[in-house]
Amino acid sequence: MLSPIRSSIFLAGCSLLLAGLAVQAQVVGSQHDLTTGGTGQGGTALTDQVCVFCHTPHGSDTTAPVPLWNKLLGDPGAYQRYSTLATPSFDSTEAPVGSVSLACLSCHDGTQAMDVVINGPGSGNYNPLGAQIDPGAIGVMLGAPVPVLGTDLTNDHPISMQYGGGGLTVADGPGQAPAGALGDPDFNLPFMALINGQPIWWVDSAAGNPGVRERSDMLLYTRNDLGQQEPFVECGSCHDPHNSSTQVVGQVAFLRVSNAASAVCTACHIK
Ligand code: HEC
Ligand code: HEC
Ligand code: HEC
Ligand code: HEC
Repeated sequence: MLSPIRSSIFLAGCSLLLAGLAVQAQVVGSQHDLTTGGTGQGGTALTDQVCVFCHTPHGSDTTAPVPLWNKLLGDPGAYQRYSTLATPSFDSTEAPVGSVSLACLSCHDGTQAMDVVINGPGSGNYNPLGAQIDPGAIGVMLGAPVPVLGTDLTNDHPISMQYGGGGLTVADGPGQAPAGALGDPDFNLPFMALINGQPIWWVDSAAGNPGVRERSDMLLYTRNDLGQQEPFVECGSCHDPHNSSTQVVGQVAFLRVSNAASAVCTACHIK
C-alpha cells in the first residue's frame, strides 16, 4: 500500500506524465488525419495510413520544398499575392509563393482533391501524375474563404516575404541578430543557427527554451529568391501541421503556440 503522501506524489507524477503526453498530441486523430473523416471534409476507409496524404517514404517529389512530399504542387504564378494590395505599411519584399506554403496550398487552395498523391498506399500504386486514394469519399476541400484560402491570397496574412522588413543575412552570424539588423524595428529579433552548413532562422516564442529552435517557436524559412539566403515568413511560421495540441476552445488547431492574448502575433510583431 502506498501512504497517502506517496500516492499523491505518485498521482502528481502520473498527471505530469499525462500532461507531457498531451503536449505530444499529434497529427493522428487531428483535422489533418484524413483516415478518420472527423474533419467534415470526408475520410476514407480504404487506408489507415495517416502520413500518406502528405508524405511517402519512397518516390517522393524531390523538387518540392518539403521533405518526402507525396502531393502535386500548384503553379506559383497562379496565386494572387498580398503585395498586390500595395498597402503603404508593407515593407518586406515578397517572393513568388513557394517554400512550405506551396505544400499547404496543395490542399488549402481548393484546386485539387485532397487525396491526390504520387505514391498511393500499398504496393504498385506509384503514379508521377498523381491519383486519388479514394475518389468516392474525399474530394476538393470545401469552405471559402477558410479553410479554403483559394488562389487569391490578398485576404490572408502575407506569406513568402522577408521577415521584419528584410536586412538579415548569413553574415549576421549565429545567435540572436544584432539590434538594428532588421529593416523594420517593430519586429522581435530572430535567432540563427547553422545546420549542415545551412542557415536556419526562428523567432523565439514564450514557450519552450530561450534561444533553442523548437516546434513551438515561430520558424522562418530560408529562401534564396532575392539573391542571397534570407529568412522568410511562410504558413509554417505560425502553423505546425502535425500538432493539434495547441488548440484551445474557440481557436483553431495547428498553431505553433496557443493564440491566447494574440501570442502568435506578438511573438513576431512588437505591438
Ligand atoms: C496534412 C499534411 C501532412 C501530414 C498528414 C503529415 N505531414 Fe509531415 N509535414 C508536412 C509538411 C507541410 C511538412 C513541412 C513542414 C515544415 O517544413 O515546417 C512536414 C514535415 C515533416 C517532417 C520534417 C520536419 C519536422 O517537423 O520534423 C517530418 C519528420 C514529418 N513531416 C513526418 C510526418 C509523419 C511521420 C506523419 C504521419 C504520422 C506526417 N508527417 C504527416 C505535412 C504533413
Ligand atoms: C492533405 C490535405 C491538407 C494539407 C496538405 C494541409 N491541410 Fe490543413 N487541413 C486539411 C483539412 C481536411 C482540414 C480540415 C478542414 C475543415 O475543418 O473543414 C485542415 C484544417 C487546417 C487548419 C484548421 C484547423 C481547425 O482547427 O479548424 C489549419 C490551421 C490548417 N489546416 C493549416 C495547414 C497548414 C499550415 C498546412 C501546411 C503546413 C496544411 N494545413 C496542409 C487538409 C490539409
Ligand atoms: C502570421 C501567422 C500566420 C500565417 C503566416 C498563416 N496563418 Fe493560418 N492562421 C493563423 C492564426 C493565428 C489562425 C487562427 C485564427 C483564429 O483563431 O480565428 C489561423 C487560421 C488558419 C486556418 C483556419 C481558419 C478557420 O477559421 O477555420 C487555416 C485553414 C489556415 N490558418 C491555413 C493557413 C495557410 C494554408 C497558410 C499559408 C498560406 C497560413 N494559414 C498562414 C496564423 C497564420
Ligand atoms: C512569423 C512572424 C509573424 C507572425 C507570427 C505574425 N506576423 Fe504579421 N507580419 C509579419 C511580417 C514579416 C510582415 C510584413 C512586414 C511588414 O509589413 O512590416 C507582417 C505584416 C503584417 C501586417 C501588415 C501588412 C501590411 O500591409 O502592412 C499585419 C496587419 C499583420 N502582419 C498582422 C498580424 C497578426 C494579426 C498576426 C497574428 C494573427 C501576425 N501578424 C502574426 C510577421 C509575422
